[in-house]
Amino acid sequence: MGAVVPAGALELRVPSPVEELRDERLARAGVRLLLKRDDLINPDIPGNKWRKLKYNLEAARRQRHGLLLTFGGAYSNHVRATAAAGHHFGFSTVGVIRGEEHLPLNPVLAYAVSRGMRLTYMDRTAYRRKNSREVTSRLRQRFGRFYLLPEGGSNGLAVRGCAEIPAEIGEQFDVICCPCGTGGTLAGIAQGLGEGQRALGFSVLKGAGFLERAVADLQARPSGNWSLEHGFHFGGFARRAPLLDRFIAEFHERHGLDLNWVYTAKMMYGIYALAGQAALPPGTAIVAVITG
Ligand SMILES: Cc1ncc(COP(=O)(O)O)c(C=O)c1O
Repeated sequence: MGAVVPAGALELRVPSPVEELRDERLARAGVRLLLKRDDLINPDIPGNKWRKLKYNLEAARRQRHGLLLTFGGAYSNHVRATAAAGHHFGFSTVGVIRGEEHLPLNPVLAYAVSRGMRLTYMDRTAYRRKNSREVTSRLRQRFGRFYLLPEGGSNGLAVRGCAEIPAEIGEQFDVICCPCGTGGTLAGIAQGLGEGQRALGFSVLKGAGFLERAVADLQARPSGNWSLEHGFHFGGFARRAPLLDRFIAEFHERHGLDLNWVYTAKMMYGIYALAGQAALPPGTAIVAVITG
């Protein structure tokens, strides 16, 4: 990965494996499904976390930063992964967490602290203004010079990292799917596609009308080859429903794979629901990116 070298032994499984998922429900719908197993890249920096951090770590190192600072909720996988990356790549880390401190720390934040991350808490009003100059300069006064990673890790360099996913897939495919929160992963994947291929994002948020604009804004060049599905959020972010839980359990039983219920399960449920319909008609070869 160019200039950034991990301080200790860190095994990154890139390219991540591609596996065909054989399931008679998909066969009946006439679609082929391949899984891009980005969840296997690394247990501490899995999936889209590594894709998003890769070029940011490189930029931070190039700009001679010693400190990474980022934002997230108390259960943020991005905060967790940033702490791990700091530990492995020799950066100090600060996590600015939305809301108040709750002790004992939940497993995500306890892990972050175990990797050396310093946590600070920001009330929800200030947190809403976290990208303002005023909040940034207050943070700089307190922590000194830092490399800023946005909430969810989605910025132009994150998009560049995610754009490398399609080229790692040796098999022919028509549509590539991913779950969407901030839209950075979808923006990148779409950017990396070839002629005639398209990307389909599954929003895990309710009422995420902002996502179309967010994805377009994150792309360096508008690619126009992507769309979003808004019908599979199951009530909103981190909400679950008996139907989704049954799907996850059955998927585990059939395929031995635990789908992450906040993200990948909602995408996979959506793929099964759309298979055979106009969005994913018979004859389509689909890739589902297992983002974590
Ligand atoms: C496992 C997983 N999949 C998908 C996403 C959504 O990615 P994005 O925020 O780039 O839309 C996230 C959040 O970062 C995630 O943790």
